Amino acid sequence: MALLTVRKDDDPILRKISKPVTAFDEKLKDLAQDMIETMIHEEGVGLAAVQIGKLKRMLVYDQYEGEGSKVIINPVMVDQEGAVIDYEACLSVTETFGRVERPEHIRIRYQNLQGEFFDLEAESALARILCHEMDHLDGVLFIDKMLPEPETEAAEQA
Ligand code: CO
Repeated sequence: MALLTVRKDDDPILRKISKPVTAFDEKLKDLAQDMIETMIHEEGVGLAAVQIGKLKRMLVYDQYEGEGSKVIINPVMVDQEGAVIDYEACLSVTETFGRVERPEHIRIRYQNLQGEFFDLEAESALARILCHEMDHLDGVLFIDKMLPEPETEAAEQA
């Protein structure tokens, strides 16, 4: 087990397209375990493999403390519906957070560490986490999609 270094900001690897996972072996299980440890250590709710320098279509997430972390491999968006705007941040983007529009409800197909296929339906916060992490697999960061801040009364008065 090991904590991995999270790639940040202008690191060019964050803009690369990750490749499908084809070997469902012990090495992959070890990588998943290290990614989960790193995500928890960094207090993130999701982490894509590219963020620790591995161009594999693989992500981990942990929506709720104590629920247990999950591993998603080769995810594909099957269906999406609705739109919700909310704030996001990213372990790879320092000192920035902002509003991003994401689908309200998604269905993805993915593989587990044994290479078995599953469907997962997710909505709201979990749909947001999965869309954010799946974007990483295509070299997309949330700052690419960030909406301008709404003008608040406080801002108008200042
Ligand atoms: Co991120």
